[in-house]
Amino acid sequence: MNYHILTLFPQMVLDGLHTSIIGRAEEKGLLHIEAVDIRDYAENKHNRVDDYPYGGGAGMVMQPGPVYGAWKALADRIGKKPRLIYLTPQGRVFDQAMAEEFAREEDLVFLCGHYEGIDERVLEMIVTDYVSIGDYVLTGGELPAMVMIDCISRLIPGVLNNDVSAEFETFHDSLLEYPQYTRPEEFMGRKVPPVLLSGHHENVAKWRREQSVIRTARYRPDLLTKADLTEKEKELIKTLDFQQEL
Ligand code: ADE
Repeated sequence: MNYHILTLFPQMVLDGLHTSIIGRAEEKGLLHIEAVDIRDYAENKHNRVDDYPYGGGAGMVMQPGPVYGAWKALADRIGKKPRLIYLTPQGRVFDQAMAEEFAREEDLVFLCGHYEGIDERVLEMIVTDYVSIGDYVLTGGELPAMVMIDCISRLIPGVLNNDVSAEFETFHDSLLEYPQYTRPEEFMGRKVPPVLLSGHHENVAKWRREQSVIRTARYRPDLLTKADLTEKEKELIKTLDFQQEL
């Protein structure tokens, strides 16, 4: 996977992504991250890339020329027009299914806006996907691009040490993950659930599935409509009363 990030703050994304698991994956050659500085494509000697909005209003707008120049140079260099994701609170909200779809691409371009946004004309010309990471407004697209790259990269084979773990976790089958425990067996009077010490794999799997269902019903009941639940699990949910615990 080759990620190309068009940004006014290349160092911010490179610093953030060159550490930890994603940094190691890049060292292993499983992915490549490049940041393209949009300012390098400024069309004036002051390196300015923004200007006042036509029609008035607060803030500045990123001009179309530098953004187009950065994209064109990239498309010419790699010899194709890859998918280009514009990070914006107006986009489709990013989720695990979208991450799985993007993980199948060979090249992905992320366009990070700043100020009050980017001139609409260049967006119409180059953007293939408008994506938001949630219903809140950030100061720019860099953090959303980093969030997406982190999430997509861990789906690439070899990036996680343990390939099965990306499949059997939160949001798999639209359920939250079951609780995890490690040593010691007792911590400040709290014991690990005995079934996990039993060595009985079938019972462990049953307990974990039940915990996933209970957790989802409790914290993210909105996900349950998408989950594939058995009749028994639906009955279990009806018996739960979280109000009593509060
Ligand atoms: N830019 C500013 N806020 C954003 C958000 N929530 N998602 C994606 N890009 C953004």
